[in-house]
Amino acid sequence: MLTPRKRIVTIDGPSGGGKSTVSRALAAKLHFTYLDTGAMYRAVAYQCRRVGLAAKESPELAELLASLKMELLPPLVNGDDVRVVVDGADIGHELRTPEMGMLASQFSALPMVRYALTRMQQEIGAGGRIVAEGRDTGTVVFPEAAWKFFLDASAEVRAQRRATQLRSKGENVDKEQLLAQIIKRDQDDRQRSLAPLAAAPDAILLDSTTIPADEVVARMYAHILATSCCRDQ
Ligand code: DC
Repeated sequence: MLTPRKRIVTIDGPSGGGKSTVSRALAAKLHFTYLDTGAMYRAVAYQCRRVGLAAKESPELAELLASLKMELLPPLVNGDDVRVVVDGADIGHELRTPEMGMLASQFSALPMVRYALTRMQQEIGAGGRIVAEGRDTGTVVFPEAAWKFFLDASAEVRAQRRATQLRSKGENVDKEQLLAQIIKRDQDDRQRSLAPLAAAPDAILLDSTTIPADEVVARMYAHILATSCCRDQ
């Protein structure tokens, strides 16, 4: 039997492929909520580092996950990253460093972390009308999504984009180190046994190496409009 489709868009892909820019813009065009699942993994990694928990399963980690109160709020300034409020504190700005990306990747391989965050994401998406971006949103979190995309780009272009982004925030960037981190993180995300980074079989593949972000958004939007009538919900 075919699974009924939900009005959910998933955009998966490796780090730096332009997912955030594209997902935010597409969500705004569709008047859908934008769900940044990577920010949730980063927030868990941040909290664990703050209280001194290593990236391995433990009763303390289970307790932290069970008591975690996390809210994702729209940015105060259009185009900014979502605000991530954990236990009442906005920690969004602490999460966007390459180091926090690496740490989030390590925590994201742990079954208890994936289980807790997948459930939270499914609750947020239960009503539909969201654009979810991540690594497994089309394969595991929302297999019933009506529209699935996988956004890729060459590692060099992705490193260049991340460097530009970080420099615009006034940060010092070593491009070679950034490229090495991006390649390592993607390898780890692709090779983990649980919910690895992968395109869903029914995802549309797009490569943003040569296509600008606004064109990627335009193609996704056109596809969604063209197929809206044929989706169940
Ligand atoms: O998208 P991002 O760079 O903020 O993600 C940070 C890390 O979180 C990424 O390297 C792997 C993990 N992640 C995941 O495992 N599954 C997701 N759906 C989103 C992110």
